[in-house]
Amino acid sequence: MKVYFDNAATTPLDEDVLTAMMPYLKEHFGNPSTQYSYGRDTRAAIEEARKEIAQLINAQASEVIFTSGATESNNMVIKGAVNYLGVERIITSPIEHHCVEYSVDFCRDHLQVETAFVKIDDKGNIDFDDLETLLQSSSKKTLVSLMHANNEIGTLLDAERVGALCKKYNALFHSDTVQTFAHFPIDVQKMNVDFISGAAHKFHGPKGIGFLYMRKQHKLQAYIHGGGQERGFRAGTENVYGIVGMAAAAKKAYDNLENDKAYILGLKNYFIQQLQANFQDIDFNGNIDENSLFTVLNVSFPPSDKAALLLFMLDIDGICCSGGSACGSGASAGSHVISALAKDENRVSIRFSFSKHNTKEEVDYVISKIKEKL
Ligand SMILES: Cc1ncc(COP(=O)(O)O)c(C=O)c1O
Repeated sequence: MKVYFDNAATTPLDEDVLTAMMPYLKEHFGNPSTQYSYGRDTRAAIEEARKEIAQLINAQASEVIFTSGATESNNMVIKGAVNYLGVERIITSPIEHHCVEYSVDFCRDHLQVETAFVKIDDKGNIDFDDLETLLQSSSKKTLVSLMHANNEIGTLLDAERVGALCKKYNALFHSDTVQTFAHFPIDVQKMNVDFISGAAHKFHGPKGIGFLYMRKQHKLQAYIHGGGQERGFRAGTENVYGIVGMAAAAKKAYDNLENDKAYILGLKNYFIQQLQANFQDIDFNGNIDENSLFTVLNVSFPPSDKAALLLFMLDIDGICCSGGSACGSGASAGSHVISALAKDENRVSIRFSFSKHNTKEEVDYVISKIKEKL
């Protein structure tokens, strides 16, 4: 039996998303920058997709830029805010995805930007008093970059509260919404957020396509120079079938949001209950209540030689899950997120992440295999 419990790393492409994409891999092949009918067809498809994504987040179509994925979007925002919007200070957290963390490091090391890290608790929740103190403490133009949900431990951010604080202190607000877009309602006006990012492969869309929302008052400049596509912000012939697939996947996800959420949350809660019933001294990294992703469960096993090999033993039995961030590595050691939670580093952390395609039978199988191995 094969069990795929690594949906925070990536999700399988939905069949009807592929169906929506196929015409743009075959008959609609025109370069969208050309003026004749082939080009007009693909241009229309791109602009339709842009409108759909914009509507889903309560933004204007002109505020959505298509990119190769969230890594590019996050790099573009952080470096662009410094290069083009006068940002001299970045406030972030110690548990951001590496594409945010290393972009911030780059700005510190090469663009003379001051950086500050907001305090977090042992579940990865940010300390709002500390954030306010940091915001108050400098008159330098500041960008706050805090992820909406952590991909390793699932802890959710109260983004509206962060947005309100950023507004109060006139700071720009960027949130990496990779794990929440198409899983939770996102309203950029309510969140008072200036930049968000998304990647289609996290919600049953294709890989290699993502988007950046950029509030119109804070327009960056070109990140990739060339032919002037994406209104000059990101040159290069567009990934038309990817863009069409992303919009189709996002629409489908939002049409089924409540049902999918209830189903996946049911699986997660069943997994928690089975772990607690079958194993001693089980703990969880990150929140496991409503302030967490319903797709992610990061389990902390007590240290033992057997637990240290668990991830690899499960793989032998066809079970795909992840230690730390699967985007970075498959290893259970070395997660900067788990280290930042100040927990016992000898415990073994494994992330299980679920989708609508998983079943209770798969949970039972995984529990039986963990029992066998430990
Ligand atoms: C929270 C978060 N941000 C950014 C990324 C990077 O996304 P991508 O690999 O699609 O560029 C990931 C993904 O793996 C993620 O989980």
